[in-house]
Amino acid sequence: MRIGLLTGGGDCPGLNAVIRAVVTVAAVEHGNTAVGFLDGWRGVLDNRTRSLDPHGVRDILPVGGTVLGSSRTNPFTLDGGPEKIVANLAAAGVDALVAIGGEDTLGVATKLADLGVHVVGVPKTIDNDLSATDYTFGYDTAVSVAVEAVDRLHTTARSHHRTIVVEVMGRHAGWIALRTGIAGSATAILVPEVPFDAPAVADQVRSAHAEAGYALIVVAEGATPAEGSMSRREGSTDAFGHVRLGGVGEALAAELESQTGFETRAVVLGHIQRGGTPTAYDRWLGTKLGVVAAQAVADEDWGVMAALRGTQVVRVPLSEATGTLKVVDAAEYAEAGLFFG
Ligand code: F6P
Repeated sequence: MRIGLLTGGGDCPGLNAVIRAVVTVAAVEHGNTAVGFLDGWRGVLDNRTRSLDPHGVRDILPVGGTVLGSSRTNPFTLDGGPEKIVANLAAAGVDALVAIGGEDTLGVATKLADLGVHVVGVPKTIDNDLSATDYTFGYDTAVSVAVEAVDRLHTTARSHHRTIVVEVMGRHAGWIALRTGIAGSATAILVPEVPFDAPAVADQVRSAHAEAGYALIVVAEGATPAEGSMSRREGSTDAFGHVRLGGVGEALAAELESQTGFETRAVVLGHIQRGGTPTAYDRWLGTKLGVVAAQAVADEDWGVMAALRGTQVVRVPLSEATGTLKVVDAAEYAEAGLFFG
């Protein structure tokens, strides 16, 4: 069997671990060959490929990003897009496609499976917001990078008796903010799931300054003020209709400085969270997911994806990937709040 692989959506540390595992297990265990499509669904539409074999993927495990490139192309928004995907896969002699991506990429994969394409999915996102899997690879790396930054920001905030607002990624789910804020001992953590009350945050900042002489707030990029009281900068949308966010950290810093009188700075961690080498955990998880995906292909078990359930990687229906967004639950957020201020 010839397996096509692609990586779609935002890149993510651990993608190369998946690619290496699928290609290696497919060849060594099952005698299957592989080809990579470049830049997500774009590469299938444009017939752009690169060869993949166990020798060529030997050394990519610790490398960040994806050796296949990525894009946010959505073939279902393009005239004749799905038909072209089906035709190009057939022309490339691909019997099965392993799609590695988040809800958007796997949403496309689900629709293609309905059209009869032999698809197996692997979930990916630093946001950890896919309900079908307990953890997504990339999340651990993103949090580790963010916590290292927060640790550094604590010392400079303390030295200057400032408030620092650290903006992390997370459009709809505050998992990165929550874990970074807990591990990084934040004065407050603001997540998209719970609109924040700026005066209450200002009180927590005052209390932290009274106690420690400085404050450090972690805010998710998708967090919003209660009753829309603070302005937000919103940009264009991508092919999946997502607004490009940015600006809540700056806006909140200005608001807190004006409410508290303490000098306040904003730091946006942005794509630093997504770049660079994956943690050991993400290398392990990416590898496990890749092994299970290669086995699903060998079993011709189409329309499934590999998912972490507890400590086991199992197969679940692909449609579960896009079912419900996994968001931070109220009890967990309340528990984090015990340490605010
Ligand atoms: O891939 C997920 C993610 O990193 C989100 O956390 C973030 O909102 C978004 O991608 C950023 O996308 P882009 O790289 O296209 O700006």
